[in-house]
Amino acid sequence: MKVEVHGLTLTYGDAVAVSDLDLTVDEGESLVLLGQSGCGKTSTMRCIAGLETPTSGVISIGGRPVFDSGSGVNRAPNKRNIGMVFQSYAIWPHMTVFENVAFPLRMKGRKGAEIRAAVRETLELVGLDHLADRGASLLSGGQMQRVALARSLAMQPSVLLLDEPLSNLDARLRHRLRMELRELQLRLGVTSMYVTHDQDEALALADRIALMQSGRIVQIGTPPEIYAQPGSASIAEFLGVDNIIPVTREDGSCVRLTATGQKVAVEPYAEGGDLRLCVRAEDVVLGPESTEAVSYRHLKKKKR
Ligand SMILES: Nc1ncnc2c1ncn2[C@@H]1O[C@H](COP(=O)(O)OP(=O)(O)O)[C@@H](O)[C@H]1O
Ligand SMILES: [Mg+2]
Repeated sequence: MKVEVHGLTLTYGDAVAVSDLDLTVDEGESLVLLGQSGCGKTSTMRCIAGLETPTSGVISIGGRPVFDSGSGVNRAPNKRNIGMVFQSYAIWPHMTVFENVAFPLRMKGRKGAEIRAAVRETLELVGLDHLADRGASLLSGGQMQRVALARSLAMQPSVLLLDEPLSNLDARLRHRLRMELRELQLRLGVTSMYVTHDQDEALALADRIALMQSGRIVQIGTPPEIYAQPGSASIAEFLGVDNIIPVTREDGSCVRLTATGQKVAVEPYAEGGDLRLCVRAEDVVLGPESTEAVSYRHLKKKKR
């Protein structure tokens, strides 16, 4: 279901964790909230889940408000039909895999046969059907996260919230689970919000990426949009662009390097006179001595 957040603010005493944040996640979309540690990603998710009471704002799921500071609406977390997976393996070690996934369904008063079918189905989805009877404490980190995922999917949530679910796993497993998650998201079409500080993860998982800094969304777009046109030099830097060079705007499609006075032909997409030229190393082309050949190459690239 569609998630709409308007003017969300969350403060802890004097500290502002989320600041007047607006965000829409479309039905069936995978939106990734990307930003460095401490920028307010978890706080935003906790507000949507109902684990934190926002200072102000409105949060709607499927067009119905679950929180509205104006009218006093504040639905309990278990009344929001949200599935959640966290970084820590929040599963019950004394239960079997099957019981872990079945538990929330039992709490909802579902019948035995119905529970068995739902658990089998979701364990199959995450590739754990063969481990249904194993004690959860005997699982690897990756398997535990699959159990957590199965448990949240078994509830058929309106929205799936994932907060750095792969961060505790080693690099190879993280990579594999990332692919599996994306495949699952596309197959099930479940509306999901995924939090990470890892840009590769964001690029792989997102329909759209919302970039967050200091409690605000500073840019939102598809992975290619964000990658090709970071909204500011600090976003470019966060995305791993190494060369960030102060320049001033010249007339036409030109900037001048502040340090050396050299003129460079580029088309600025930002307003203002003081700009930053952000160059990815892989985009630098070594050409022959004749500048014509270089600009011809450049033109050819542009036409495509
Ligand atoms: N329970 C809390 N009490 C006080 N400050 C908090 C609490 N939780 C988070 N913060 C602060 O709010 C800001 C955002 O934190 P968080 O949402 O966890 O960021 P992220 O998930 O992006 O790393 C940080 O500055 C953090 O220190
Ligand atoms: Mg966090």
